[in-house]
Amino acid sequence: MPNTATPETWRVKTVEHIRPSTRDQRQQWIEEAGFNLFTLPSDRVFIDLLTDSGTGAMSDRQWAAIMSGDESYAGSTSFHALHEVVQDLFGLEYLLPVHQGRAAENALFSVLVHEDQLVPANSHFDTTRAHIEFRKAAAVDCLSSGAYDVTDTNPFKGNMNLDMLRDILQESHARVPFILLTITCNTTGGQPVSLANIAAVKALADRYHKPLVVDAARFAENAWFIQQREPGYRDTSLRDITRQMLGMADAMVMSAKKDGLVNIGGFLATRHREWFDQATEYVILFEGFRTYGGLAGRDLAALAVGLEEVISADYLASRIGQVQRFGQRLIDAGVPIQQPVGGHAVLVDASRFLPEVPREEYVAQTLAVELYLEAGVRGVEIGTLLNGRDPESGEERFAETEWLRLAIPRRVYSNDHLEYVAQALIDLYHRRSEIRAGVRIVEEKPVLRHFTVRLERKTE
Ligand code: F0G
Repeated sequence: MPNTATPETWRVKTVEHIRPSTRDQRQQWIEEAGFNLFTLPSDRVFIDLLTDSGTGAMSDRQWAAIMSGDESYAGSTSFHALHEVVQDLFGLEYLLPVHQGRAAENALFSVLVHEDQLVPANSHFDTTRAHIEFRKAAAVDCLSSGAYDVTDTNPFKGNMNLDMLRDILQESHARVPFILLTITCNTTGGQPVSLANIAAVKALADRYHKPLVVDAARFAENAWFIQQREPGYRDTSLRDITRQMLGMADAMVMSAKKDGLVNIGGFLATRHREWFDQATEYVILFEGFRTYGGLAGRDLAALAVGLEEVISADYLASRIGQVQRFGQRLIDAGVPIQQPVGGHAVLVDASRFLPEVPREEYVAQTLAVELYLEAGVRGVEIGTLLNGRDPESGEERFAETEWLRLAIPRRVYSNDHLEYVAQALIDLYHRRSEIRAGVRIVEEKPVLRHFTVRLERKTE
């Protein structure tokens, strides 16, 4: 298990003020925001756990790289520095930088995904699914049933369900353009995928002559879990594990806003010249020339340094240790959360936390609002509000589990900050029986309603 005693392996050089507020202020602000945390201005938030994406703190070395970024339109030396790091770390020869993860998905899927196809994955992130469905193809999640069971403590809860994958390949292999693995699995809270599982997926892919694509947004966190949890890897370096993981991939899509340790950026890397050539056309059309892909030279430079920093054992022990410690504090107090605790987030099971609130009243959103009112902490609902309605019937698509996600930005908050959040959640848990009414929709849009929805509090 992780060494939860490792303190932060960074010290503070620049500080950013964050503003505490009173409950009365927050009551007014959340009403103004229509009880939607996405519409809340960030200076009305004390501790922001909305996402770990693009919200991390860069190091002094990265800021120094920013100053020396080469802004040449073509053939920037910052591109070459990044290319070297990507080749060395992942062993993938061809690199296309893009502005963020979904742009890498767009470029690669423009080449690989066509109407009526079917893409199996352990789990597709929302944008990945959307880019597949946008091309009138289907995205099929193949997780084990235990992945959503908060009490199932399988150490590799992000693993592909091999039986499901085998069935899909047997029945529909002609429709499958490639197999996708998301490491770690964001949907279930940053749950890792084991090397054994990646190898088994690769063997199935080979048997059916299918390529393997990895969504590597949190590859370093996945490597760390393999080193700590998978038998036989304790003495294998994180770099070697990364090489082994990506060594089985034909291509990777990367949102560098996570384990790239940068605020913006992404890339597509592949070992296939043909895919690279075809994707390059899309990148030039939609992102920019192939050596910058919608980023500034300085962004490429900072990313090259970030990828080197993220794979450090010290960094990962303290990063994941921080998330584990936070989760353990909640577990010890009886708060129902996804277990084992994942790499980048704690997922609170809102239906168990607030059993009196009916699911029709958006129980995870209710908990998100309550936590904001309690302590000025912003999390995000991953449940029915996010799922939206069935486009045909207009019926609510009730979520399998109503999660409140508390995602932890990298190198931003101290353990004291997270202790404050844990205490607020525990206080709320102790008086949970007082919270019996949820929220009701006043105004909603047909697509991606959670971003703009306006809600009101129900009264009992
Ligand atoms: N893949 C995974 C696994 C992700 O978690 C994300 C983003 C993306 C792709 C898309 O990358 O945002 O750079 O375009 N996840 C963020 C989150 C938004 O909050 O979990 P992007």
